Amino acid sequence: MESYVINGGNRLYGSVEVQRSKNAVLPMLAASLLTEETVTIEECPQIADVDAMVKLLSAYSLSCTMQGSSISVSGGNAEYTEVSPDLSKVLRSSCCLLGASLARFGQVFLPLPGGCAIGARPIDMHLAALSKLGVLVREGEGGVYCRRERFSGGEVTLPYPSVGATENLMLYASLAEGETIVRGCAREPEIVDLQTLLCRMGANIRGAGTDAIAIEGVKRLHGARMLPMPDRIECGTFLLACACCGGEVTLFGGREEKFDLLCRKLRQNGCKVWGENDKITIKSGDLFLPLSVVTGPYPAFATDLQPLLCVLAARCEGESRIRETVFESRFSHLEELRRMGASVRIEGDTAFVAGGTLCGARVRAKDLRGGAALVLAGLCAEGLTQIDDIGYIDRGYANFERKLSLLGARIWRMSCKKNSS
Ligand code: EPZ
Repeated sequence: MESYVINGGNRLYGSVEVQRSKNAVLPMLAASLLTEETVTIEECPQIADVDAMVKLLSAYSLSCTMQGSSISVSGGNAEYTEVSPDLSKVLRSSCCLLGASLARFGQVFLPLPGGCAIGARPIDMHLAALSKLGVLVREGEGGVYCRRERFSGGEVTLPYPSVGATENLMLYASLAEGETIVRGCAREPEIVDLQTLLCRMGANIRGAGTDAIAIEGVKRLHGARMLPMPDRIECGTFLLACACCGGEVTLFGGREEKFDLLCRKLRQNGCKVWGENDKITIKSGDLFLPLSVVTGPYPAFATDLQPLLCVLAARCEGESRIRETVFESRFSHLEELRRMGASVRIEGDTAFVAGGTLCGARVRAKDLRGGAALVLAGLCAEGLTQIDDIGYIDRGYANFERKLSLLGARIWRMSCKKNSS
């Protein structure tokens, strides 16, 4: 097991290059299944989730080559295979393969992605929408098997703007016969990025970024290159790290309009935040007012930033109120923050976090963003913090400790024995 050890208390100064978006790259890699030609995704972040997606694609006999950080996937020899339960377990985005594999091979077997610390994350909406488009769905103990009975468009309305379901439908309908209209779509910027790639591959899609997407199926797709958007959640993580620790940090690749709600919250807390061209700078302030935030589908406050915002709440004077409406159990970081001295109360979907001083402790990452939140807590706590199980953090943040060290943080990665208690 690997752990971070952090000696808290340093302010952060300097600049960081924001990595390309994990949540844009993963469905783009899945999109490469839709063509026999080569799809190249540039500057992929070197994170465990991308490695796992490459392994999944390789299992379909796609040839995946890396040049620097660009990944080229050539699907000329692709063959149908069942998704391995071991890989599906570690990577939720394996469910993007539903739409892509059904479009390419007419079938897919997907072991149900295991429960994780943020909620049950069922895929019922993906399956219901695909079945409305003519896909036969058979759910069994080990997973779900789907087979195309007809391959034509239609109209579907999602009951909730699910990011993954929207992406799956775009992947599937790109090659279906006729037009597909998807209503109630997720509007996340990563979906707009996926539309851009698919259109470069020859797809005919419009409407991404709104709640209705129209896809006119084409007979075949071809190769394309794409530089995915910067990772708005990584960028938000560094903005919040600076707000919590103090200092001044510039994020190259950060775009304020992608998370103006976070910037507004930071400004209310005395931080100066300004953007120009493709960079955003934050200068911390010393006004720590309690926060009131409700997470929701884009453009509401991003659920992925909620755990990190809880750390800022733990630094504010008075009691902050943070309501999580996207995932039903995305508060596991709060138990660990409690060990670090935070005063926290949870009532249903709302966490009440009272500000105070955080103290170093031994804590455990239980999911990706919750783990990153513990890093922020360690950086602004008094004394030493050890965060165990940082494999979760490696799923989404490339060179996290290196980037933080360059800003002046004292953070080290160590291999150590698992605490038996
Ligand atoms: C994407 O997950 C992101 N992952 C998540 O980021 C992000 O938190 C989430 O969208 C919401 O913004 C990727 O893009 C790879 P959803 P996804 O389908 O697509 C429920 C991170 O930290 N739901 O929009 O799985 C679901 O349980 C990760 O980077 C159903 O009930 O999210 C959840 O409560 C974590 N049935 C809500 O909808 C379904 O069929 C939103 O899920 C589908 C979803």
